[in-house]
Amino acid sequence: MKKINLSTSITLFNSISELPEEVQSLMNEAIKIRETAYAPYSKFLVGTAFLLENGEVITGNNQENAAYPSGMCAERVAVWKASSDYPGIPILKIAITAKSLNNLVSEPIAPCGACRQTLSEYEINQKYNIEIYFMGETGKIIKTDSLLDLLPLAFDKSFL
Ligand code: THU
Repeated sequence: MKKINLSTSITLFNSISELPEEVQSLMNEAIKIRETAYAPYSKFLVGTAFLLENGEVITGNNQENAAYPSGMCAERVAVWKASSDYPGIPILKIAITAKSLNNLVSEPIAPCGACRQTLSEYEINQKYNIEIYFMGETGKIIKTDSLLDLLPLAFDKSFL
């Protein structure tokens, strides 16, 4: 038997103004689209903006449903928009922000497990890692250099 430690590294930014300029504007797009999320049940609004290699910015927000599991997270709304409008164009950077109508969200909000799995498929298919920047409504921003930093031991098509 052998115990193996897997490690992940993150970069922490204190505020939006510390981010590289291009990422600041990506985060501002995510904040803008967050406000029109359809989240009447959770009152938890998530917005995201993706920068593609061709310079296009694709945005998305969460879309809930009275039949709760029929709703969808912002990240998957955006990645499917990106892949259907621009199939095969690599995703370079993702900005994510979340806000609650019930309380102030000041911790960085990471993408859920299902979104990590979905996004990893696209990262694995392209030649670049995807930089992911995520935050709450205010406060610090966490950056990971790759989807796989958020999803160690990922399941992918090589197992099929
Ligand atoms: N949500 C997202 O949009 N992205 C995530 O990664 C986590 C959760 C949404 C789903 C639901 O509409 C609300 O946040 C509460 O879970």
